[in-house]
Amino acid sequence: MMYADLLIYSAQLMATLRGYSDRPACGEGMSEIGLIEDGAVAIREGKIVAVGTTEEVRAGGWAGPDTRQISALGKVVTPGFVDPHTHVLYAGSRENELSLKLKGVPYLEILKQGGGILSTVRSTKLATDEEIKAQTSRRLRTMLSMGTTTVEAKSGYGLMVDDELRALRLIHELDGEQAVDLVPTFMGAHAVPPGYSEEAFTNYIVDVMLPQVAVEDLAEFCDVFCEPGVFSLESSERILVKAKELNFKLKMHADELASAGGAELAAKLGVISADHLLQASDEGIAALARQGVIAVLLPATSFNLAKNSYARAREMIRAGVPVALATDSNPGSSPTESMPLVITLACLYLRLTPEEALAGCTINAAHAIGRANQVGSLEVGKQGDVLILDIPNLNYLPYHFGSNPVETVVKRGEVVWGG
Ligand code: NIG
Ligand code: FE
Repeated sequence: MMYADLLIYSAQLMATLRGYSDRPACGEGMSEIGLIEDGAVAIREGKIVAVGTTEEVRAGGWAGPDTRQISALGKVVTPGFVDPHTHVLYAGSRENELSLKLKGVPYLEILKQGGGILSTVRSTKLATDEEIKAQTSRRLRTMLSMGTTTVEAKSGYGLMVDDELRALRLIHELDGEQAVDLVPTFMGAHAVPPGYSEEAFTNYIVDVMLPQVAVEDLAEFCDVFCEPGVFSLESSERILVKAKELNFKLKMHADELASAGGAELAAKLGVISADHLLQASDEGIAALARQGVIAVLLPATSFNLAKNSYARAREMIRAGVPVALATDSNPGSSPTESMPLVITLACLYLRLTPEEALAGCTINAAHAIGRANQVGSLEVGKQGDVLILDIPNLNYLPYHFGSNPVETVVKRGEVVWGG
């Protein structure tokens, strides 16, 4: 008999998120998250081998003499969180910009003055590989402790080709050196560096950087900060069309600060996800729905920019757009690692239900980074990435905010945090 290595049993409630591996949950599907009372999950050699009620899984005979068994009595069990939009690799921090922000200086004005993203570009350039990795590892460890087991990580604090390639190589190294799985995205189009016009830098991305990143096979996705004053619709389209030719999957920072047709362009290009979308137009939302583009919403960024402006998530869900949630973890607009905080903000300000929020940071997030066949749900054959949350029911997850609900994190069947 083949026994499981790990059995988690007697969960008060288990949210499996089953049934969405082929297509993301949308509309009312986002509320149907495959709940099982008195749930259990068995893992062998890193993969899930059984899911069901404790009685069903026990009847399958998965518990052997060497099976580690963890009771989740009175607790909630979910898939590991997937954070599908981060800028987690960098050195330094930007708390010095807090006073400017409190005085009302806009985010893009700080960037224009050479601060913001450009300030992190400088501190990252000055840091050694070891320093960047040590600082990033700490953030990944914090993410893991708060339940995040898979993270998309963008370059974009290099901007020049050697620095961008270095960032992507460091993401690959970190992927192998700690428990959180990383999915690399090339985002050379994060800001226009001093000395370049937008057009000249767009040429440089298209002619120099994208081909090199492709040759070295360093990134799965290409992303662009499409925003008036940063990369226009035209520049963004040029970059993403070239990226598509080079077989990158596409993402876009779209309609974050101004309504400028970003969502419409995202739909036209058939990107996997369009992210931010605070100012997306009605037509833009309809276009995303038609094309099945995933909206990755970042309420911690809205919260931290302190403008009381949030994406229109309810309209998106009503229109049939699959919604995912992410931290946007970065040193400027969202200096946090916490998916539980994102869930609270998503419920309070995006008006998602706890069920929808959970779908947003598990299976839909996995779709947004092309990992829905491996992670994002508790189903036989998937990676054994599981959380035990020390909460009595799902409402409690957004309700009790500011502390960590995660008791145990299991990655590929191993307890990697708590336990
Ligand atoms: O997604 N919008 C552009 N980029 C990041 C911010 C990065 C930074 O400020 O360092 C974002 O919000
Ligand atoms: Fe971002």
